[in-house]
Amino acid sequence: MDRKIYLDNAATTYVSSEVLNEMMPCFNALYGNAGSLHSFGRSAMAIIDKARDRVKEAINANKSTEIYFTSGGTEADNMAILGVAHAYSNKGKHIITSQIEHHAVLNACRELEQEGFEVTYLPVDKHGLVSLPDLLHAIRKDTTLISIMAVNNEVGTIQNVKSIAKIAHDYDIIFHTDAVQAIGQIKIDVQDMEIDLLSISGHKIHGPKGVGALYVKSGIRFDPITFGGNQERGKRSGTENVPGIAGLGKAVELATKNYLITNKKLKNIRDYFLDKLAENVEYYQINGHMHQKSNAILNISFYGIEGESLLMLLDLAGICVSTGSACTSKALEPSHVLKAMNIPEDIAQGSIRFSFGTNISKADVDYVIEELAKAVGKLRAISPIQAGRI
Ligand SMILES: Cc1ncc(COP(=O)(O)O)c(C=O)c1O
Repeated sequence: MDRKIYLDNAATTYVSSEVLNEMMPCFNALYGNAGSLHSFGRSAMAIIDKARDRVKEAINANKSTEIYFTSGGTEADNMAILGVAHAYSNKGKHIITSQIEHHAVLNACRELEQEGFEVTYLPVDKHGLVSLPDLLHAIRKDTTLISIMAVNNEVGTIQNVKSIAKIAHDYDIIFHTDAVQAIGQIKIDVQDMEIDLLSISGHKIHGPKGVGALYVKSGIRFDPITFGGNQERGKRSGTENVPGIAGLGKAVELATKNYLITNKKLKNIRDYFLDKLAENVEYYQINGHMHQKSNAILNISFYGIEGESLLMLLDLAGICVSTGSACTSKALEPSHVLKAMNIPEDIAQGSIRFSFGTNISKADVDYVIEELAKAVGKLRAISPIQAGRI
């Protein structure tokens, strides 16, 4: 069985040929250190400047200098949260985030708690949405930062980012959003949406791994978390990853330019998948908001079975998915996202995340559903729990 179908695009994506073409010269012909004063260095810096302009244009930042390159989404989130919390600690030491953030945000907040900050982790409703009254209620005089993700990586729910940002600003609080799963899925305009800081990752949008960016609106202060040669205007030391940055710039440009076409294709294939699923499989539920959600992510709980076992049977058939029940696919604890959405543990355990790319055809979906129906049937036949009774 050689057939391989990749439905794990929320974990990572392939690097597109346009992005690869942009990166290749940076590995050999243009290998300069962007910090060098000679022509090789200047060429490398010109590549970085071009990528910075591309990111600036894509998210409608005001200036290119509002973009800082990082080693990925995790570092961008860490820089935003630790950086702002530290820079404004004389104003207050209270941060608000949500229970369903990526661990790059949650664990940065835990770190702040160790340092004496207080963090409110807002609950979400059964669709994965943060409630605005809850947010208002959590705001205190000493709140300096609100960090709420734009699109959830496990269930795809899209938060009301613009309204959240507005509330933050009404109370003179800085607003950060993790947009790692949002770029290319929803329109991002940092000025219109009043976003102060925004995190991006390359490898979720057909760019390279190990590179990302943080947008910081000019005027917002943040302390660095790395110390060294003062690259990125002193905010992110370390020799710049020129090939990665070149690739990220191109990937962000393409993802935002093509987002309407991409979304249409993803919606078609996702809806086809759902129709076929309904025809061929019984006893499941879709987790996440039904409408206010990314077209790329489907999180489904199959009653009466273990997500890990289903993942393995699908893998044997060449189909690559993630379990929704594990926060990183190697951790077997129930997902903190599904837990926050109040999904009972036995149902959360049977959850699988299918995340689509535009390279998936209807014939691929037919094959996936056929194998899925077989695998679900097999697992239910040996399961002590009767799916129909849940
Ligand atoms: C929502 C979200 N934030 C942050 C990250 C971390 O990004 P990176 O893998 O580039 O560190 C991810 C990746 O899984 C993510 O999905």
